[in-house]
Amino acid sequence: MAFCGSLDALFQFPSRSFSPEFKGAKKGSCKIVHNNNNVQASTKTKESSCSRGRVTGTGTYRDRAKWDVNDSAQLYRIEGWGAPYFSVNTHGNVCVRPWGTSDGSDEIDIVGLIESLQRSNIKLPMVIRFPDIVLHRIQKLQECFDMAISRYGYQQSFQGVFPIKCNHDSFLIKDIIEFGHQFKFGLEVGSKPELLIAVSKLCCNKDALLICNGYKDSVYIESALLAMQLGIKVVLVLEQMEELDLVIKTSRKLKVLPIIGLRAKLSTKHDGHWAETSGDSGKFGLSVSKLIQVVHRLKKENMLQCLQLLHFHIGSQIPSISTMKEAMREGSHIYCELVLMGARMHYIDVGGGLGIDYDGTGDPSNASISYSMQCYANEVVVALRDACLLKGISQPVIVSESGRALASHHSVIVFDVLSVSQQTAPKSIGNLESLGESRVQKFTIIDKTAYSGKIVLNCSLRRKGVHLLTMSTINHLLI
Ligand SMILES: Cc1ncc(COP(=O)(O)O)c(C=O)c1O
Repeated sequence: MAFCGSLDALFQFPSRSFSPEFKGAKKGSCKIVHNNNNVQASTKTKESSCSRGRVTGTGTYRDRAKWDVNDSAQLYRIEGWGAPYFSVNTHGNVCVRPWGTSDGSDEIDIVGLIESLQRSNIKLPMVIRFPDIVLHRIQKLQECFDMAISRYGYQQSFQGVFPIKCNHDSFLIKDIIEFGHQFKFGLEVGSKPELLIAVSKLCCNKDALLICNGYKDSVYIESALLAMQLGIKVVLVLEQMEELDLVIKTSRKLKVLPIIGLRAKLSTKHDGHWAETSGDSGKFGLSVSKLIQVVHRLKKENMLQCLQLLHFHIGSQIPSISTMKEAMREGSHIYCELVLMGARMHYIDVGGGLGIDYDGTGDPSNASISYSMQCYANEVVVALRDACLLKGISQPVIVSESGRALASHHSVIVFDVLSVSQQTAPKSIGNLESLGESRVQKFTIIDKTAYSGKIVLNCSLRRKGVHLLTMSTINHLLI
């Protein structure tokens, strides 16, 4: 096992392919091969940044004799993706600062830690969790919203929920509930099993929210309403018209007045990895005309007072803040209109989407973001404040369902290096032959007939209407 800075070694950063919170994301990891006097970046997901960023992926990096810790830190872009938690210490070892301190008083040398664990006969692979990072993330999210609320004179508070689907690890969920108690932090669920987990974790917590999203049958709805009888603040968020009948019928049967939320399908389109599930043609949520139908139906059933929350989630890992700004503008006005139609609204749930800088570039791409958590909180708060002031209505409690922003940094997987391969990164688009067999195979996914075989030429790709002009575009296809 070796880390950055050591020669003839290969180290793979913990990447999204290993963490449940990255489920659904593209697979890939950054491999760095140190070989004699050359250090070459040979990457699968991250070449794009290598080709345009601070590190060039193709050239000789530094002479072996002069290689130092700073070169390693720069090569792995550890500041970009790891700060304030992960860095390289003066010994060239990866270390963690669970409290994100700048003086390093909380620093743990991960290599030293693993060596001592191995001396105690604990074998690789292992996952090391840092609960303090979870606490730090929850506090940071709350602080950012508190700061925005005070800066913009917002009249209500922020209350987060953690979406269980992001990471089902029971230790993590226990930590989130324990650390988030002071902030009334709750949980979001999208299925019956998740609902049961959430009920067991929240049953002594009367202030936290339990947001029920996802497909709902009568058993799901009945379980959610029974959880209300245990004193949990459950919100049943309707995603489909059919769920309305079931909620009305089941709540009457159990004689429990539900708290109802509506998931709106916004027109705002995500411009990142989950673009296809967003916008008017997205499959989740109710269009504006359906929202109005629900309001009329609830009025008719004398249950409009139950409608208290508006929810939307335009997609995870939003690359640029302008998308969130647009979604917030749209969502805020829908919220106001629901109030003006007579609903006793109290919460707006802005979903997830707060991204993580996985590749450390700070660019608005699939693997990175170009905004801070504070900037995100500011945009949410200011859009809501402006819409509510314009329409003269009371401001709602802000709920967010940030998942990866809370969980992603908190665990590290460590494993033995099983093999080392040596690759020469292609110099340009015209040199695609050097991509090697495994990469060529990836092209077959795009078009089986045209790109099978070992040699893929620039021109044949173009003929198929695939415009591959830069290294980063190729890399995007290879992910
Ligand atoms: C409804 C909903 N809320 C929240 C999240 C979490 O998103 P993120 O990890 O971007 O915060 C997801 C993720 O898929 C989701 O579908």
